[in-house]
Amino acid sequence: MAIDIYLSQEKIQSRILELAQEINKDYADKSLHIIGILNGAFMFTADLVRHLTMPVTLEFMSASSYGDGTVSTGELKINLDIKSDIRSKHVLIVEDIVDTGLTLTVLKKNLGNRKPASLKLASFLFKPARLEHKVDIDYLAFEIEDHFVIGYGLDYAGRYRELPYVGIYRPEGDA
Ligand code: IMP
Repeated sequence: MAIDIYLSQEKIQSRILELAQEINKDYADKSLHIIGILNGAFMFTADLVRHLTMPVTLEFMSASSYGDGTVSTGELKINLDIKSDIRSKHVLIVEDIVDTGLTLTVLKKNLGNRKPASLKLASFLFKPARLEHKVDIDYLAFEIEDHFVIGYGLDYAGRYRELPYVGIYRPEGDA
């Protein structure tokens, strides 16, 4: 299996700094409650929060709409919920990728029902070619072409999450 580098570590880190500066400006006089979506967004969440300057609280949540392959099952399952009450808090969801948009559509609705003061979304990647459910992304690091990508938190069958860059996954035999 060959991995073509699609987004280098340097490119990712400098873009995340830009995004964090935008978030710092928008929430300058507020506290922010971050909800990172496991497993894919663990690295993006960790790198993003390092640059934030307002008071931050942080939790993780896990929801999935994918099986072990590269095709969505079309279903969303909440595997791990947050423990805190987000009512009246400024909440920022941090996700790895918006693909069909199903995960975030359902998650935003679920969290919105808990009556936060505001609810915004930061996504590391967005694949517009595959979008089926329109989602507003408030802070986006990169828009990408229609490739199955791995690394920087993103997996194929549980592997490659540890890579510090994003690569294109090409299965064996695919030139
Ligand atoms: P959506 O519900 O179709 O938007 O899918 C979102 C989830 O699918 C993400 O949180 C990822 O876990 C997974 N996913 C979508 N595209 C990719 C990809 O290119 N590489 C790895 N995981 C992906």
